[in-house]
Amino acid sequence: MAAKLHPSILVYFMCLMILSLGPNHLAPCTAQVQSFVYSGFQAADIILDGSAMVQPGRLLQLTNSSDIIGYAFHRAPLHFRGGTVQSFSLSFVFAVQSEFDKESSGGMAFFIAPGRNFSGAMPGSFLGLFNASTNGRPDNHIFVVELDTFGNGEFKDIDSNHVGIDINGLISIESHTAGFYDDDTSSFTNLSLNSGDPMQLWVEYDAQTTQIVSTLAPLGAAKPRRPLFTTTANLSDVLQNPSFLGFSGSSGSLSTLYSVLGWSFAMDGPAPAINITNLPKLLRAHREARSNVLEIVLPIATATFITAVGITIFLLVQRHRRYGELREDWEVEFGPHRFSYKELYQATEGFKDKNLLGAGGFGKVHKGVLPVSKLEVAVKKVSHESRQGMKEFITEVVSIGRLRHRYLVQLLGYCRRKDELILVYEYMPNGSLDKYLHCEEDKPTLGWTQRFGIVKGIACGLFYLHENWEKVVIHRDIKASNVLLDGEMNGRLGDFGLARLYDHGTDLQTTHVVGTLGYLAPELLRSGKASPLTDVFAFGTFLLEVACGQRPIKQDNEDKDAMLVDWVLEHWHNGTLLQTVDTKLQCNYEKDEAS
Ligand SMILES: *[C@@H]1O[C@H](CO)[C@@H](O)[C@H](O)[C@H]1NC(C)=O
Ligand SMILES: *[C@@H]1O[C@H](CO)[C@@H](O)[C@H](O)[C@H]1NC(C)=O
Ligand SMILES: *[C@@H]1O[C@H](CO)[C@@H](O)[C@H](O)[C@H]1NC(C)=O
Ligand SMILES: *[C@@H]1O[C@H](CO)[C@@H](O)[C@H](O)[C@H]1NC(C)=O
Ligand SMILES: *[C@@H]1O[C@H](CO)[C@@H](O)[C@H](O)[C@H]1NC(C)=O
Ligand SMILES: *[C@@H]1O[C@H](CO)[C@@H](O)[C@H](O)[C@H]1NC(C)=O
Repeated sequence: MAAKLHPSILVYFMCLMILSLGPNHLAPCTAQVQSFVYSGFQAADIILDGSAMVQPGRLLQLTNSSDIIGYAFHRAPLHFRGGTVQSFSLSFVFAVQSEFDKESSGGMAFFIAPGRNFSGAMPGSFLGLFNASTNGRPDNHIFVVELDTFGNGEFKDIDSNHVGIDINGLISIESHTAGFYDDDTSSFTNLSLNSGDPMQLWVEYDAQTTQIVSTLAPLGAAKPRRPLFTTTANLSDVLQNPSFLGFSGSSGSLSTLYSVLGWSFAMDGPAPAINITNLPKLLRAHREARSNVLEIVLPIATATFITAVGITIFLLVQRHRRYGELREDWEVEFGPHRFSYKELYQATEGFKDKNLLGAGGFGKVHKGVLPVSKLEVAVKKVSHESRQGMKEFITEVVSIGRLRHRYLVQLLGYCRRKDELILVYEYMPNGSLDKYLHCEEDKPTLGWTQRFGIVKGIACGLFYLHENWEKVVIHRDIKASNVLLDGEMNGRLGDFGLARLYDHGTDLQTTHVVGTLGYLAPELLRSGKASPLTDVFAFGTFLLEVACGQRPIKQDNEDKDAMLVDWVLEHWHNGTLLQTVDTKLQCNYEKDEAS
């Protein structure tokens, strides 16, 4: 029965079968691209080359570092009916992320080319499509929409941020700074291609008018009514049949990421809309790494560093101002006698007033406790302006520092700052003798035996200075206030040699007399020369001061200043010497010793 089937019925059934399969199944046979739209590229029918890759997030990344080229081609080629290029339109969403903000040295492109082999092409400005010898050759048969992020004068680029239409080479037939015209105001807004922000580009070719229309907008914005620019080129004279559609991303020496997020294309009609809510996420890693490292961490690190340096400098300056000293080469040999200012500063708690022991003609004296040895010291600050004679003086101070005598206040060492000399002495807990003699601060009156002991001690100390040491040391300022009392109320001579600081290095004409009025020997006033004898005169005055409990310049009944020495001499001549003895002693004294 089947054999008797009419052949026309067979043909009829075959036709039915073919028709039921529908026209779509015929399409692969002709391999004709009519239209497509991709939001993300995971399932896209594309071929990758070079550095291009589809990220797990469906993002088509053309490049990922510097000096590389990446390509993505639509697998199926374009066929043009009868050889003439039909109208077509396309749209894509892209992003350019430069490692260095606003700086990149390449670009990316959409192109229609006769083949997929760009093995001889160069990266950077050549967009991975040409090299110096192929650039501009008519047999390239290539149509390019360039997104150029590098202004190359060689290719007559208008700037480093433009969209251009190129035919067969890199010199655009038309280009325009990236941006868009506002629908309402028609004002132009620049867009920075390599801002890293995704943007959408539309390109339409009308075969009737050979017009090419390019429109750019930030992602998410509606396609602006006014295009970025329009140009004309009869692509039938350019493109071959078949041709391939694709993208190239070409970074130069600066690492730049060129990515495509979505892509649509259509022949003879508008390109399908890209579903922008379904686009892949941009790989911000590169940019974020940069923004983290360079934009956040770096400024913070820099700020921190600068602050740290500032604080360090401030502290150093502070420290220098607080602890700064003057040190010269010749002082090296005096090392053991040299105190650091810091040590003394700490010992006296910053020279606080509560530690002040007294302020004399030469400067203030503070009590201190040395930080390491816990030794109690008296720290004397002496101001001096000139450095002249300082070396000699320090030499003397140090040699005096080697003096050891039980009736001398031991000089422990010194320190030097600008305009300041600091001397460190043993601490004398009972203060200076004059306070006891002249009834200051409720000190008890000293008995005759005590006074006699003190005077004897000072005499011993002075004798040691004058005679028993290798050098003759002239004290120059013997007086009750320079006699200090130690824990056992022994009198000890202090401040020796200090007067020399003010008496030094000056010539005879300008020598000014140093010492204290009332204690000055008459010949000292005449010659201005200090000698052991002038010390002895001062000691004599001191002796009378102790015995009489009177200041060397006493006020007599008529309120006139009178020299203690002259007053005592007068009484001596009159045979009334014992009347001069301190009334506070209330006759408790040895008459023989007093005479
Ligand atoms: C760039 O991509 C290639 C694969 O195409 C990969 O081997 C390379 O590690 C990537 N480089 C960077 C810096 O991501
Ligand atoms: C591309 O062309 C070059 C010659 O220009 C050839 O050596 C190479 O094999 C080609 N590559 C492919 C993938 O066809
Ligand atoms: C330029 O490219 C062509 C074709 O890809 C290749 O044959 C040629 O060697 C290249 N020239 C240079 C200088 O690289
Ligand atoms: C837009 O870009 C052009 C060319 O780079 C520049 O001359 C112009 O000043 C820019 N305008 C604005 C508003 O940034
Ligand atoms: C474009 O060029 C082709 C081939 O040269 C020609 O047939 C066609 O008429 C041209 N189109 C226009 C609009 O000039
Ligand atoms: C766009 O994609 C989203 C998410 O996949 C989907 O929900 C939505 O329906 C799509 N819109 C269109 C117009 O296809």
